Amino acid sequence: MRVLVLHGPNLNLLGSRQPEIYGEATLAEIDSAIVARGAELGVEVRSAQSNSEGALVDAIQGARDAADGIVINPAGYSHTSVAIRDALLAVALPAVEVHLSNPSAREEFRHVDLVAGACLGVVAGFGPNGYLVALEQLVVRLRAAD
Ligand code: DQA
Repeated sequence: MRVLVLHGPNLNLLGSRQPEIYGEATLAEIDSAIVARGAELGVEVRSAQSNSEGALVDAIQGARDAADGIVINPAGYSHTSVAIRDALLAVALPAVEVHLSNPSAREEFRHVDLVAGACLGVVAGFGPNGYLVALEQLVVRLRAAD
């Protein structure tokens, strides 16, 4: 089983970016925790980060033949991107959305999430652990569908 983990814009700065909101873990640390959990679950995890909406769309399209499911933190694009939503619907792979913070408890513009409706569910507000929960629940769904 193969899972693609996608991180959106500014998540490359984790560790130094607003640590009071996003915590102190770096993206590399988060990725290695996800890969380790994947290994425990018998899942091959590949991860990628991009600041560009088009690159994220390309990565989602590429996952059609390269992954069984997607974990995605679209970051700021969650609140704006019809294109990322459409890409997830187009490839029709099961996906789980993650947010480190809880956007619903933040500014009003973060309460709109255009990507969530193209996902099985959303895990928000639990910091880096959210990625592990998202991976675990995605794998539960993928195994149930087998
Ligand atoms: C975020 C929440 C978004 O609102 C924000 O734009 C981000 C990170 C999160 O993980 O909490 O960049 O997706």
